[in-house]
Order: sequence, then C-alpha cells, then structure tokens
Amino acid sequence: MVLTGVQRRPEFCFGAGTQYLGDMMLKLSKLATAVALVVAGSAAMAGEVEVLHWWTSGGEAKSVGELKKIMQGKGHTWKDFAVAGGGGDNAMTVLKSRVVSGNPPAAAQIKGPALQEWAAEGVLANLDATAKAEKWDELLPGVVADVMKYKGNYIAAPVNVHRVNWMWANKAVLDKAGVKSAPKSWPEFFKAADAVKKAGLVAVAHGGQNWQDFTTFESVVLGTGGAKFYQDALIKLDQKALTSATMTKSLETFRKIKGYTDAASPGRDWNLATAMVIKGDAAFQFMGDWAKGEFAAAGKVPGKDYICAAAPGTDKAYTFNVDSFAMFKLKDATAQKAQADLAASIMGTEFQEIFNLNKGSIPVRLKMDMAKFDDCAKLSAKDFVETAKIGGLLPSIAHGMAVKPAAEGAIKDAVSQFWNDDKITVAQGVKNIAKAAATK
Ligand code: BGC
Repeated sequence: MVLTGVQRRPEFCFGAGTQYLGDMMLKLSKLATAVALVVAGSAAMAGEVEVLHWWTSGGEAKSVGELKKIMQGKGHTWKDFAVAGGGGDNAMTVLKSRVVSGNPPAAAQIKGPALQEWAAEGVLANLDATAKAEKWDELLPGVVADVMKYKGNYIAAPVNVHRVNWMWANKAVLDKAGVKSAPKSWPEFFKAADAVKKAGLVAVAHGGQNWQDFTTFESVVLGTGGAKFYQDALIKLDQKALTSATMTKSLETFRKIKGYTDAASPGRDWNLATAMVIKGDAAFQFMGDWAKGEFAAAGKVPGKDYICAAAPGTDKAYTFNVDSFAMFKLKDATAQKAQADLAASIMGTEFQEIFNLNKGSIPVRLKMDMAKFDDCAKLSAKDFVETAKIGGLLPSIAHGMAVKPAAEGAIKDAVSQFWNDDKITVAQGVKNIAKAAATK
C-alpha cells in the first residue's frame, strides 16, 4: 500500500539517463529501509489490551465502543472483558479472582478509594510518564487528580464525571398527570407521584438491586439533610449524624418512595427501569446520568421528551462519580506501550467528547468545548463548578467515591435490607445502617 503511493510520485518515473536511474535506485532503497523500519516498529509496538469494564447497557456499550475504535486506530488489539452488572460489584469480584490467580487484565474500571487499595497491593502500573507528557495535572480538577494518585503518582486515568443526584422524568407522563414541572422538594415530589398514580401509571421506575436502592438512598439523604449532613453522615461516617433525627427523616422518606414503585421492581436492571420512563410506562427514575445515555441511544431529546432535574432538595449539591481505568503491571513492552496509549487516549479530547456524548456524563478534562453537549450535560458542567464553591460538591457513596469498599458494602446491604423488608422499623433501620458504617 505505502509503496504504491511512492511509485506514483514523478521523481521515480523511468525514461531519464542512467545517472538519474542510479539516484532513483538509491532513493528507493533508502525509502524501502525507512518503510521497513516503520512497519517493523509499529508491529513491534502494537499490543493487545484486555479491558475489564461493566458497560453492557445500550448507551454504555456504544460509549465503550468508541474507546475500542480509538485503540484499534492506533494499531492495538482490543480484548473486551465485559462483566454485566450495574454499579460494578460483579466486575470487581471477577477482577479479584483474575488478579489473585496471577493473570490480571491490562486495564480495569476501578474507582475512588478502591484505587488506593489496589495500589497498596503493589499491582498497579505507574502512569506518571503519560500523565506528565499529556499534562494531566493542568487538565484535571484537583478533586479528581487526588483520587487518581497513590503516594503522589498517577495510578489511574479518569474518564468522565457522572452526576448521581438526578431525577429523570417522562414529559408526556407528567403532562397526562397534570404535573406542571419537576418537583423541587420531597413534599412536592409525593404530590406529583400521587397524581401519576391516579393517572394509572407507575410513579417511580426502580430497579430493586442493592446498588440501585443505595443510589436512591444517597439522594434522599442529601435532599433531606443537605450537603453538610451528607458529608457528616455518608463521608465522615459520623455516628452522631448517622443516628440523628435527620437520618430518621431520611429513612421515612426513603420507605415512602417504595410505595410508588411497581411490584415487578425487585431484581430489575437499571436500564430496564430507565426504559420504563423512556416508553412512558413510568414517570420518574432516580439514577445517575448514565441513564441519559439510554435516553440518547433511544433518540430522546431533553426538555422535549424527558426532563433531567436534580433530585428533590438537592439542586445546590452535586454527588459526583468519576469512572477511571487503572492499569495492571505487565512485563511485556508492547503491552506496556498499549497501556500508555490507552491512558493517553482516555484523557485525549477526541475520546473525552465522543465518549461522554454517548455516556451521559461530562468530560473530566477541563477546558473542553461543550457545544455539542445537551442541556442536561451543560447544567451538570455548570453545577460541578458552582457547587464546588459552596461546599456542595460531594463524592457519591453509592458509586464507590466516598468511603472504603468494606464500609460501603456493609452500608449498602443495610440500606437494601431496610428497603426490602417492611418489617424492619425506621428506628431499627437507622441502627443497622449506623452499625454497618463502623465496618473497617
Ligand atoms: C458507573 C457508570 C455505570 C453505572 C451503571 C456506575 O457505577 O460509574 O459508568 O454506567 O454504574 O452500570
């Protein structure tokens, strides 16, 4: 292919004297050597990257497909290691067994404080060379860069910023129920939900899996107690806050929401709950903005077909969830080169735009042009900055950003047991959650 282009160039045409022919032969042989070197070089440096992730819904698969294309464009082979299960618990279980058996993937979707735990095991690669060459320190918000580093060295490449405290609503359903706008407080929400119920539709599309229960729970706590309370109760895990009247109020509200879900919700995947809102079978869903990836994949337009609004009482706050990829230490030089290319691609402008347009999140890289993003993404980008100024930018506990995995898992289970078992009183639920929060 390359030589076909070269042969067409006029200086290589026959017909002149022998001197010319000699020069041409010399040029050709130099060129052939150069071409051979380039080909050999790229073949030697083209590696395989096995990437573990849990992006299997329609919008998610489209998004990760863009990363695959970019890596293939750089000559690497993409080995997809998708482990289904929203929130990533299944993926983390599979990852552990692969690492324990001495066969880690090249890269894995790992987030928040779990990154620090993996790094402490000594199994993660140092990404400083890429980070320095690509100027990550200048291109990342400090709050994100800190999470991506272990003892000052980069150990993960951030992908995006998801906002968790969203409420999604089907516009036609709200119109049918006579609900004029997205409810801004919990009392307003229950009024709207009653109207939807009366209209014969499901008010809240919920997927009854523990991480989804937990996702709703953190928005309820934030909307009930505000940013400071969320910080004390769910980030600092302060026992006083966890056993306070505000936590009691939060659990009462949380339980009340369950009354607006349908009987088929236990076990339902999150994207199927989103589909209920997309199709107009349900009015609301509490979910992070990966749900927007599903609306987008279904060709739905915010403002026209659906509404994105902060969960009731949470518009001055922002629970963030940053997806990231850590690379495992590998010996092979081509594999290392592929890892470095993957890390650089993830933070590159091309990927940051196309991936986040599909995923529902916003670019994590600063100073990106947001022209192609929709109004929900623009609101997310604006609120990310504004809430940071007033202490409202908070890590999501339900999505592995706020506390260590052991405490997170224990609280998640206690929350889910409370949601699923109406025999557990609010007072008992408060106690169980507080006890779980003490897990080390
Ligand atoms: C991840 C998202 C993902 C969602 C549902 C979250 O924890 O951060 O990227 O789309 O789970 O699977």
